[in-house]
Amino acid sequence: MTFDTVIRNGTVATASDTFTCDVGIEAGKIVALGRGLDDAREIIDATARLVLPGGIDSHVHISQPSGEGIVMADDFETGTRSAAFGGNTTVLPFCLQEKGRPLREALTNYHALAEGNCYTDVSFHLIISDPSEAVLGQELPALVADGYSSFKVFMTYEGLALSDREILEVMSVARETGALVMIHAENYDAIRFLTDRLERAGKTAPHFHAASRPIAVEREATHRAISLAELVDVPIMIVHVSNREAMEEIRRAQQKGLNIYGETCPQYLVLTARDLEGLNMEGAKYVCSPPPRDEASQAACWEGLRTGVFSTFSSDHCPFRYDDPAGKLAPKGRTSFRWVPNGIPGVAARLPILFSEGVVKGRISLNQFVALSATNHARTYGLYPRKGTIAIGADADIAIWDPERRVTITHALMQDGADYTPYEGIEVTGWPELTMVRGQTVVRDGALVGRKGFGTHLSRDLPNAGRRGP
Ligand code: URP
Ligand code: ZN
Ligand code: ZN
Ligand code: ZN
Repeated sequence: MTFDTVIRNGTVATASDTFTCDVGIEAGKIVALGRGLDDAREIIDATARLVLPGGIDSHVHISQPSGEGIVMADDFETGTRSAAFGGNTTVLPFCLQEKGRPLREALTNYHALAEGNCYTDVSFHLIISDPSEAVLGQELPALVADGYSSFKVFMTYEGLALSDREILEVMSVARETGALVMIHAENYDAIRFLTDRLERAGKTAPHFHAASRPIAVEREATHRAISLAELVDVPIMIVHVSNREAMEEIRRAQQKGLNIYGETCPQYLVLTARDLEGLNMEGAKYVCSPPPRDEASQAACWEGLRTGVFSTFSSDHCPFRYDDPAGKLAPKGRTSFRWVPNGIPGVAARLPILFSEGVVKGRISLNQFVALSATNHARTYGLYPRKGTIAIGADADIAIWDPERRVTITHALMQDGADYTPYEGIEVTGWPELTMVRGQTVVRDGALVGRKGFGTHLSRDLPNAGRRGP
């Protein structure tokens, strides 16, 4: 048979195995794994390269409405382009419900923004900001059936925070429908109390953002979220975990047999709260929630990744330009950290950082890398086995890595819509050289060769966690 493409002689790794073989691709699918495949219209030589499932980043923010006068730095074109440069083939951005408005309306808007603009595949999570009776009773069950099988709820943020009662109601819908609830776990009242107190003391510079949400704020909310899930008997995903105490809450719940999942992100592995202490407003570049902590917290996040407490490693890409009145240097943000937009870019840096700091430095295995970067995301959010692995019948979503290439991370390499990267200057070993989505090469040797609009929206199955029965 003549294949469309054969990737020859690479070292293929999945979440469980590593082996040398050729990959035969036909009509966007992996159709053969074996040796000596050579009848193809296109041969890609992967000698001395790793052939990995394309990264799936299950936590990114693209074109999300932010505070007044604030504009997110990435739209679907630049956000998915950056993702592809970082070895990703699918991203899961959030669709934010406007308060008092139907979720369907938000989805219509987001689909219009994404349509024709994506380089990678995408699939929306739903942010529930207003769990009205209509949303809980009708919209959500219908949307889960339509393939939007995960929701995010916030325990903090003005205009987004839900009460415990509201979270219980959303969790109940998830239990009924099999959807997965992602939770932003920080104590809203505690943050407001601490923020007011800091401001009264004139402590308004960006680095006080970290002091406004210390570890206890996150640990308490993590514990409470787990307790609420236990009451409803439903699996949940605690996103962007930053420290040991929150990690240990999750581990304790898992050891009790509760279906609690955890996610961590690159900012909690390689940044600390000291990065927020830059001169003048420079610290705003690192303002995100939860904030980066300290070296002991970094070690705890690695422990969570290594031991499986965290099953997914995501970027929480949430890009704002720095030198921009519609970004980190918004006029109000100069008066207090309270108004600095929360979030940092990272969709292109996520995998090189995990590979270099994790695999190359011996903290995790190559197979763990694949699980944490792709396979577990697909399983957790209902895309497996179509996505997230290299197997016959799966989509040919592949990243070819040079495991020895040494690169200094710069903003230019990120190819996003921001004007900085919080990871500037970090030296990594290992870099994705080629990213292929459903058999089509999108990025090759640092050049964009894919077609905008080839990336498509994916309707998802129920998450693994939400499946009923045997
Ligand atoms: O600061 C952050 N993480 N911004 C993104 C929104 C969120 O909470 O995930
Ligand atoms: Zn063909
Ligand atoms: Zn969050
Ligand atoms: Zn986020």
